Amino acid sequence: MDFSFTEEQLMLQDVARRIAQEKIAPSAEHHDRTGEFPLDNIRLLGENGLMGIEVPTEYGGAGMDPIAYVLAMVEVAAGDAAHSTIMSVNNSLFCNGILTHGSEAQKQKYVRAIAEGEAIGAFALTEPQSGSDATAMRCRAVKQADGSYVINGKKSWITSGPVAKYIVLFAMSEPDKGARGITAFMIDTDKAGFGRGKTEPKLGIRASATCEIEFNDYVAQPEDVLGQEGEGFKIAMGVLDAGRIGIASQAIGIARAAYEATLEYVKDRKAFGAAIGTFQMTQAKIADMKCKLDAALLLTLRAAWVKGEGKRFSNEAAIAKLTASEAAMWITHQAVQIHGGMGYSKEMPLERYFRDAKITEIYEGTSEIQRLVIARNETGLR
Ligand code: CAA
Repeated sequence: MDFSFTEEQLMLQDVARRIAQEKIAPSAEHHDRTGEFPLDNIRLLGENGLMGIEVPTEYGGAGMDPIAYVLAMVEVAAGDAAHSTIMSVNNSLFCNGILTHGSEAQKQKYVRAIAEGEAIGAFALTEPQSGSDATAMRCRAVKQADGSYVINGKKSWITSGPVAKYIVLFAMSEPDKGARGITAFMIDTDKAGFGRGKTEPKLGIRASATCEIEFNDYVAQPEDVLGQEGEGFKIAMGVLDAGRIGIASQAIGIARAAYEATLEYVKDRKAFGAAIGTFQMTQAKIADMKCKLDAALLLTLRAAWVKGEGKRFSNEAAIAKLTASEAAMWITHQAVQIHGGMGYSKEMPLERYFRDAKITEIYEGTSEIQRLVIARNETGLR
């Protein structure tokens, strides 16, 4: 077993770290406070190959592997979680699904624009009444005699929804068939019949714009179908497997930023005549933070490695996401506690890390769904 990274992986990590530390981290407080979408930084990430890391160069991407994706995501998330949310959706949920299931024309049209950072992509599965139970969707795509589809319905919690040019949409085309009646469509948000609702005010990742979207007699052509009719649920699940590696990496980045800030603080902060890092209660927290951080990273790299081998990685991705997101929540909680009043103050980024960490336990499959996926895989029972 080889734990070293290739030169290319380290180079991409370095590019991501430089942009994250020089451009993203300095404006993170502003983006968190105002909720302003960081378009310039997203373009910069795109120009440097970070919006299509696993996208082959012929479609405008960096042509790298899933390990490189993990390393780069961790760096960007350590700079600011909201930026890494946008990056994760563009890379994993948007480009990945089209690369795996799209036609050549779809790859040329949709993947290039997103991978190069010229446009933003989104993924629309969730609805107001269906989150974890994704097959309970009500959005309908009714096939017409000429082969086109008329789409009606609402999708909610759409990351980058307010700014996305293209969206991968999942709609029920044959309701009687349940999961096998769902079809995936490529949506152009400039076309008639597409609308956006209000932007959601959120606890964390505030600069990653999130909104409801609506379809009123939106017409999709047969060439807009992604994969085959009725294959949408499996496409969504496969794409979410990849997405979960992205969210695990995001959680690690947030946790690492909180951990590194804490390491500095415990050396500087004095109480009872000594640095608080010399107290056993603080030392125990530091040791546990480091163990959880390393475990999360190794499990996430394992999931990325299995993906890179071209094997099914649903279980490894769920294990990585569950472990990393719960580690991030725990580590940021401890970091706030060790910083005391300063951890609670907006003068330091600790409270932001704490708020940002929470979403990693919710989106792209809650911790409960990850446990369900893992237990089903381990037992073979349903
Ligand atoms: N890859 C490929 N196929 C898969 C799969 C996977 N990972 N998981 C399931 N399937 C297939 C099954 O094999 C089955 O196929 P057959 O019909 O041929 O047997 C079919 O899909 C249905 O599977 P299940 O019976 O297991 O489906 P289920 O209804 O029991 O649901 C679930 C399973 C795991 C609960 C699933 O619904 C799930 O993951 N829910 C969570 C949804 C989610 O993650 N939502 C996040 C929203 S997106 C988001 O957050 C994005 C953002 O903005 C950042």
